[in-house]
Parts: sequence; C-alpha cells; structure tokens
Amino acid sequence: MAKIAPSLLSADFGNLQRDCEMLNASACDWFHIDVMDGVFVPNISFGMPVIKAITKHCKKVMDVHLMIVQPERYVDDFKKAGADILTVHYEASTHLHRTIQQIKAAGMKAGVSLNPHTSVELLADVIEDLDLVLVMSVNPGFGGQSFIRQSLKKVARLREMIDNSNSNALIEVDGGVNLETGKELIDAGADVLVAGSFVFGSENPTETIANLKSL
Ligand code: DX5
Ligand code: ZN
Repeated sequence: MAKIAPSLLSADFGNLQRDCEMLNASACDWFHIDVMDGVFVPNISFGMPVIKAITKHCKKVMDVHLMIVQPERYVDDFKKAGADILTVHYEASTHLHRTIQQIKAAGMKAGVSLNPHTSVELLADVIEDLDLVLVMSVNPGFGGQSFIRQSLKKVARLREMIDNSNSNALIEVDGGVNLETGKELIDAGADVLVAGSFVFGSENPTETIANLKSL
C-alpha cells in the first residue's frame, strides 16, 4: 500500500492548526513540507518559523522538500525545526554525496529530488546511500500544475535500478497527483504519493486522502 503525503503548500495558512489536525486524523502517512527560496525555483513559500508551527501540531512524519540552492547550509536548522526526512535537489547541491552524509549525521533520513529533465541514471553512485528519491512530475515551484507523463517511465526505471541494487530507497512522486495519475504511478513502482491541490482543493480532504490511500 502506498504512503500518502499531502503537501501543506496548498493548505489554508490562516488555519494551519486546523489543517494539521485534519491530516493527523486522516489516513495520510506523512506531512509534505515544500520550502522554496525564490532562487532555485521562481516562487517563495515559507521558512523555519512556519515549519516549527507545523511541527508543533504534526503527529506524523515531517517530510521536508527543499527547493533551495546550497541546501547544505541549512541541514541542522531543518533538523531543529522538526524534519524527519530531508530531501535536497540533485540540481542544487554540487557535493551531493557529502550533503547526503550530512543529513544522516544530523539524524534524519536523506532524500534526493530530480527535476523532470534529470535522469534517474545520475543517481547510480549514491542510490545505496539514499532513504528516498523524490521524482518531480512537474517543474517545481507551484502547486496545481499538470502531470508530466514521462515521469511514469522514470519511476519504472528507478524501480528497476533500486530493485537491482542494495538500496532500500523509497520512490516518492510529487506534482499533478490525483486518483488517475496516482494509480498509474503505483503501477509503475511508486511508494509514496505527494498531493497538494488535489487534497486541499477538494470538498472533503479527509475523504480524498482515504481515496488516494485505497488506490
Ligand atoms: C511543487 C511542490 C509540490 C506541490 C504539489 O513544487 O514540490 O509538493 O505542492 O502540488 P500539486 O499536488 O498541486 O501538484
Ligand atoms: Zn514537494
């Protein structure tokens, strides 16, 4: 059964506590936290004070997705803010191997995310060090974009790469996930589905999460 990670980027920031409590009571597995710096991606989301506020009300795993340049500068700060899993972008970290070790040494699970143009094969030499690979199925920066179908082939290739190695990395997919694309992603080998606008834009988010969970 796939894990479901609703993205708080689409939550109501005026009612964050209410939305966190809704997620705690729902069938979701992780809270997905999107951090954007206005440099790596053209948008700015939120930083430490907001993440700390979410952590205070979060009873599940805090899955933090950094869309920022030089993520290695902030590893300890995100640990202090409550991150359990810290994911950095392949395209944003020059010394990726070192950054992965740094995240693990700080006591978190380490993830690497790939933009739509970045091939999964580039992870061959670090795949056994990773706890998670986050495949972006949209160009990062905004919620509510349409799913890039090429991502299905990437997930299938990544599944094969992980299964043919000693890696235990989970495959998470982020962007344009709904009941249709979610089902196709699970069939292709995804372990974790991120969903923002599909969950928070629906009439009954709790029910939408349950529907995703039962895919
Ligand atoms: C995009 C973020 C996503 C975003 C997904 O840059 O990484 O997590 O919230 O939003 P939806 O599910 O609406 O495509
Ligand atoms: Zn994300």
